[in-house]
Amino acid sequence: MRSLIVLVLMVLSLAAHSEDGSRLWLRYEPLQAEMAGIVAGSISSIHADLSQPSLDVAVDELQKAFQGFIGKNVPHTARLQDRSVVLAVKGSRLATRLGINAELQGMHRDGFIIRPIVRNRQSYIVIASPTQVGVLYGVFHLLRTIKVGDFSPGMTIKSEPKFDLRMLNHWANLDGTIERGYAGPSIWRWDELPEVICPRYIQYARANASIGINGMTPNNVNADPLILSDEFLPKLKALADVFRPYGVRLFVSINFSSPRIIGGLPNSDPFEENVQQWWKTRVNDIYRLIPDFGGFLVKANSEGQPGPMDYGRTHVDGANMIAAALQPHGGIVIWRSFVYEPDGIDRANEAYLEFVPYDGLYAPNVIIQAKQGAVDFQPREPFSPKFGAMKKTALMVEFQITQEYTGFSNHLVFLAPQNEETLRAETYAFGPGSTVARMTDGTLLPNRINAIAGVSNIGAETNWTGHHFAQANWYAFGRQAWDHELSSEQIANEWIRMTFTSDPAFVEPIKQMMLSSWETVVNYMMPLGLHHIFGWDHHYGPEPWTDVPGARHDWLPRYYHQASKYGIGFNRTRSGSGHVDQYNQPLSDKFNDLNTVPENLLLWFHHVPWDHKMRNGRTLWAEMAHKYQEGVDSVRSFQRTWDRMEGLIDSERFRHVQSRLRIQSRDAIWWRDAVMLYFQTYSGMPIPHELERPIHDLEDLKRVRLPLRHFHYWLPHFYWRPALRPNPADTRPEDPSRYF
Ligand code: GCU
Repeated sequence: MRSLIVLVLMVLSLAAHSEDGSRLWLRYEPLQAEMAGIVAGSISSIHADLSQPSLDVAVDELQKAFQGFIGKNVPHTARLQDRSVVLAVKGSRLATRLGINAELQGMHRDGFIIRPIVRNRQSYIVIASPTQVGVLYGVFHLLRTIKVGDFSPGMTIKSEPKFDLRMLNHWANLDGTIERGYAGPSIWRWDELPEVICPRYIQYARANASIGINGMTPNNVNADPLILSDEFLPKLKALADVFRPYGVRLFVSINFSSPRIIGGLPNSDPFEENVQQWWKTRVNDIYRLIPDFGGFLVKANSEGQPGPMDYGRTHVDGANMIAAALQPHGGIVIWRSFVYEPDGIDRANEAYLEFVPYDGLYAPNVIIQAKQGAVDFQPREPFSPKFGAMKKTALMVEFQITQEYTGFSNHLVFLAPQNEETLRAETYAFGPGSTVARMTDGTLLPNRINAIAGVSNIGAETNWTGHHFAQANWYAFGRQAWDHELSSEQIANEWIRMTFTSDPAFVEPIKQMMLSSWETVVNYMMPLGLHHIFGWDHHYGPEPWTDVPGARHDWLPRYYHQASKYGIGFNRTRSGSGHVDQYNQPLSDKFNDLNTVPENLLLWFHHVPWDHKMRNGRTLWAEMAHKYQEGVDSVRSFQRTWDRMEGLIDSERFRHVQSRLRIQSRDAIWWRDAVMLYFQTYSGMPIPHELERPIHDLEDLKRVRLPLRHFHYWLPHFYWRPALRPNPADTRPEDPSRYF
């Protein structure tokens, strides 16, 4: 009988929701019979003694979830009852009555405990935390354990985040476009704010709370000074008010020239008193409206952005000046280290050279935000050596969730393994165990701000992220920011079950597909340490040949691949740029030596001849060919895996993903052929005969133009699908099919 009810509920709920991905992983579908029975048998009501905004949200979430899970209204009661879910904040009357305060002593403010308590023959499931937001995190955790199938009423869970600040950076411009955004325009409708609060803002905050994200910047790091204008402050306040109950604090990206541009001062020199005063006054204005405002994110003296060096000052001078304005309010400066003033030798060296000499001179409320790798967000990069070098300055990792360099929202790429590789990398700053995670989470450098950031991949598209599977990257970032010891596999498992289904026939193969998808994109784009051989303006497809007269040489692929008839790769060893010595021992020796460098980073660190012998006995050339083919083969296997899933999930999302996999498969071949045929002009060697033959002509591929005029534009899929088009300047009759 019960399973019949569940079946009916399932049918009803499928009918009620269109499966467009808009509900993300927060889908409260009917549980399978066994779990439904456990939940229904152990939970009868919800009790919370305080009416606080985050607790109200938490109660509402529980009610919504139980309604969906077991089709029952679980009431919010004024009194404790047998089988209540009890929400208690440390120090409250309720927490005292339950005797749980001592357990919460010394706990992280966002941490929580979930455990059973039996009193007077009544049993409760208590969710307790030092703060109301922590209780909300506990509620989302409880719901996740139910959905994933791990729940039992007797379970005890204690969880605390590893990073204090877990933040999303949106690269959204104030005109609604998103730099490197591939899911439609921005969700922030600045023209309607503060009057109109779009319901998406609430859903956004809720989704973040469900994975522990507690900070955000709504605007691009290439910041429009207007964000700090009188016109925008009330808009910012409106957003902060929406986010507050969900524990998401607002920060903004600022333009260093704001005092001059919107303040009317003659310049923005950090040593000028009127400039310092301008920042103080503006910051005071912000805190009057937003008392829990987080602070500023700053991209300065990078890629044309203004900064303190414009006035002969340093990053320290600039960061500390702004930090002084924020300090009385508890705000922080997040100062980016994505800088590369040309030193003429190696872009990978530059951020280190600009930042490490100033280690220890930054104000205590400054944190340096460094991209995970030394150059940019390449498909695979070794971790930035700054993480092992700055021991007196708070440093945080910036990941790129948006897939600028991994196929936009067309390619299925689960990025958790990439983040995991970086977070677990050994820096050897204090010997073994000094991983990037422990260097930044406060374990090895205590008493500092600790934080982690990801560049968001969301936009106004119905499914938020363009590709349904790109939702997993938002999800994974939040989960890893909470606990970097979670494995990618665990995260994928949770996400699949919450987003699609718990049917093992779906979960297992799709998990394997997700877990191998990052290595796959590396293989068909840039294996063996190759990097930055993208089309220079779009970063989507291959253009290892590109030359743009007048462009900075370190924006062009040749700078990075250095291919010639003798060989390929960037020599960063001691006989080259010396970059290897920015790493601690034993890494620097390991990377320097051709016999010990990891082969998946070979061409990042070494320039080697085409016939260089790889450890498996192949020549470098043959190995490259094999890697590209492996990439193509894997995407094809993803297609086969996916097609077998038909019927196990809704057809709407099934077809959507299917169509994206087709594009990915074509793109993988495009990559393989373009890169191999182009490098063949240098190597002069045949594609190994056991491998598939190229199906394109190099000259045709060189003519391909993506109609992306400027990288600030947002890119709806229809705008540029099919992915390849002939150059309009090409006089031959247009026949797109000849490309594939
Ligand atoms: C990359 C990206 C830019 C971005 C920059 C940054 O270079 O292509 O669009 O502005 O990173 O992180 O600041």
